Amino acid sequence: MGSILEVRDVSHRFGGLQVLKGVSFDVAPGSITGLIGPNGAGKSTLFNIISGFLTPSVGDIVFLGQTTTDRGIAARSRAGLQRTFQTPQVFRDLTVRENLVAGCHMRGRTGVLEAFFGLPNVRREMADARRRADEIIERFDLGPWREIPAGELPAGRQRMVELARAVMCEPKLLCLDEPSSGLSTTEVQTLMETLERLNADGMTVLLVSHDMKLMEVTSMVHALCFGEIIASGSLHAMRESPRVREAYLGT
Ligand SMILES: Nc1ncnc2c1ncn2[C@@H]1O[C@H](COP(=O)(O)OP(=O)(O)OP(=O)(O)O)[C@@H](O)[C@H]1O
Ligand SMILES: [Mg+2]
Repeated sequence: MGSILEVRDVSHRFGGLQVLKGVSFDVAPGSITGLIGPNGAGKSTLFNIISGFLTPSVGDIVFLGQTTTDRGIAARSRAGLQRTFQTPQVFRDLTVRENLVAGCHMRGRTGVLEAFFGLPNVRREMADARRRADEIIERFDLGPWREIPAGELPAGRQRMVELARAVMCEPKLLCLDEPSSGLSTTEVQTLMETLERLNADGMTVLLVSHDMKLMEVTSMVHALCFGEIIASGSLHAMRESPRVREAYLGT
């Protein structure tokens, strides 16, 4: 089978600042693929381009064999691509459970009018969503906080809510930007186990992180430096790579 995601010769500039230069790589279906690189390398910019928050100056994003460069965020989400943010984005005033139910709304086939009039299939869909939310809440150890507004939770827990909400949409490809920042050592361990379990269940993951412990879940890593891929391989190979060491240490 081909790639689930192809980044094809993507370049991007903000005004006069060239942030990405001819970036190309593939994400194999069923993999946990990592993207590493020093601060300002362009990782989040690339994520914004992959998820449709930015249109690249040059190049294409191909998702499931279809060029999606010009498709919007919602269309990509419906096609099975979800992302989380470097700063966790939750609905602060909604409870943990409501956050998850809101997250899966886009999956539903119910129209706006049906939802407004509360027709039976709406009620069924909502009940399904709540049941799924409860399952995922248990999987993510969020049970004790189910009825708490997400904005009142510590940053690490908000991150888990954001991740759980993305998982509610049953993405084929889940893109995570620094998911372990703000997490304790135990929470990182839980995150790693969760990602491995999701992956075993068939979810492909693209992971951006500075956290080399977390990166141990990856099977393939691409190193980005000043907007260019400078090395690709296993995490072990990246650790040994003189180019990667030089990029990080500046020596
Ligand atoms: N909206 C923007 N306008 C102008 N410059 C930007 C914008 N967003 C990012 N940049 C610049 O683009 C470069 C790459 O930023 P980006 O956030 O993609 O890096 P990163 O690899 O995610 O870094 P970090 O590891 O710190 O998260 C940086 O020099 C940054 O200042
Ligand atoms: Mg970033």
